[in-house]
Amino acid sequence: MKILSINGSPNKTGNTQNIVSAILKGAKKNDHSSKTIHLYDLEMNDCIACKDANKIHIEKDCVHDDDFRNILLPEIRKADLIIFSSPVFMGHITGKMKTMFDRWFTFIIKDFKIRDLNNKKFISVVTSGAPSESFKDVSDYLEKWLGKDFFNLEKVAVIHEGDFTGESGESDKIELLEKYEKLGETI
Ligand SMILES: Cc1cc2nc3c(=O)[nH]c(=O)nc-3n(C[C@H](O)[C@H](O)[C@H](O)COP(=O)(O)O)c2cc1C
Repeated sequence: MKILSINGSPNKTGNTQNIVSAILKGAKKNDHSSKTIHLYDLEMNDCIACKDANKIHIEKDCVHDDDFRNILLPEIRKADLIIFSSPVFMGHITGKMKTMFDRWFTFIIKDFKIRDLNNKKFISVVTSGAPSESFKDVSDYLEKWLGKDFFNLEKVAVIHEGDFTGESGESDKIELLEKYEKLGETI
């Protein structure tokens, strides 16, 4: 299985990505391949709700000739399982992650049909300073849009870890990483 990890945190070894790395470590034991893309490394424009979007989606995916279209989109199309990860910033996913999801408009064609995402699975990983229950709505949002309510990716896991009140990278705790490595082994 090809796993694509899309990291929506500015921290490459922070609380969020540490959990994802543990999942990928576990998945590797079952010979799954993986690739990580850090959204903060990409030049990614905002969706501008272009005219004739349906036509443009079919003809050239998007009006913007940028890293979303040229780097991320081909990787999303190749992936069997996508791990979406984001810390909570001001009560929601990070701006970069939201910008990426706005650009997912390209997967929507005439009559709100979804293209290219058939038979893909997802895991979402959210971390927050507050206890996880406080921002359950952020994980619910991801589950709703990625899952049955809209893009129809098959849910593997929806993860939310909270109480990260100190420095970023605090999730580097052995028990926590072991827990997620084990989850990765079940993929
Ligand atoms: C700009 C900013 C905004 C934040 N906003 C929230 C918030 O609204 N609620 C919360 O619980 N934690 C908030 N946090 C804390 C982070 O969500 C938390 O520390 C997270 O685990 C950081 O993940 P990272 O290490 O992957 O960056 C915020 C942190 C930053 C830097």
